[in-house]
Amino acid sequence: MIQIIGAGAIGCLWLGKLLQAGYPCHIVSRSVLSTNTLTLTDLIGKCHSFNVSYGMQLLHKTEQAQQSSLLVCVKAHQVLAALLQQQAYIKPQQAIILMHNGYGCAEQVAKHFPNNPIICATTANASLLTDALTITHTGAGPSYFGFYPGYESNNNHQPMEDRLNTYLHPLLEIMPDTHISNEIIEKCWLKLIINAVINPLTAIHQIKNGQLRCTEYAPLIQPLVLEVFAIAEAEQLTFDLNELQETVANVIKATAENYSSMNRDIHFGRQTEIEFINGYLIKKALQHNIETPILNDLYAQVRAMESH
Ligand code: PAF
Repeated sequence: MIQIIGAGAIGCLWLGKLLQAGYPCHIVSRSVLSTNTLTLTDLIGKCHSFNVSYGMQLLHKTEQAQQSSLLVCVKAHQVLAALLQQQAYIKPQQAIILMHNGYGCAEQVAKHFPNNPIICATTANASLLTDALTITHTGAGPSYFGFYPGYESNNNHQPMEDRLNTYLHPLLEIMPDTHISNEIIEKCWLKLIINAVINPLTAIHQIKNGQLRCTEYAPLIQPLVLEVFAIAEAEQLTFDLNELQETVANVIKATAENYSSMNRDIHFGRQTEIEFINGYLIKKALQHNIETPILNDLYAQVRAMESH
């Protein structure tokens, strides 16, 4: 059984796919929802409705609930608080799966849940939440899951891949293009780098991702990718600089019609994930004595916009 923490766009998307495939699941929302019917409009525009088990607490009384994996789909700055709120209902055998933009949460979570297996995840699926439990699957892409190194579970008799398969069942089956990765840190860093470029620029200028293709942004994007590349290198992560520039350009092209999550956060006056994206990279740069003028500037601008 999978229990999802966070009834936002991505949490509801995975919930919808689980319900569509007939698997038992439960979703935890921090507020009372106006409905218990989930409406999912799929990639071809077909609408599906399902009854949902939801509450403000994790299910914890049955054997099935105590063995369930927890898919945490809240924003990076909410992850630790959301888990601590549920701490009394979380058993050490339950895998905690972290799926969010940004980096640095797994380290925080591991300190508070040292006996739980911790799995990091990244997805390129996009979803739009238009009302409570009402979502449209707006884009498909790969999803990757892998153990946070050092937190692979206390049952080391089984091979790592078997353990992951057990914790992740049935997530690997219900969403196309979903994989176990032995290089999850690299996958999460790649997403971090993409987010560090696209999110603040689209948030500050309140533009769609595709507008970053205008010539005025090119002189900023290339040196920005160079800054994050240098930090990744110092962290022993091997990316190819040209491939990285190309990947960022490809994501901008593929998501041209999207408003990035940070763009929407600023638009709606919400706290952004900047601390766990550019903020995290700046901390790492400082540790390695790397100068990051563009990252710093974007960070400061988003911070200033957040406080208005
Ligand atoms: O945060 C987001 O919006 C997405 O991760 C991405 C890839 C930038 C597309 O909008």
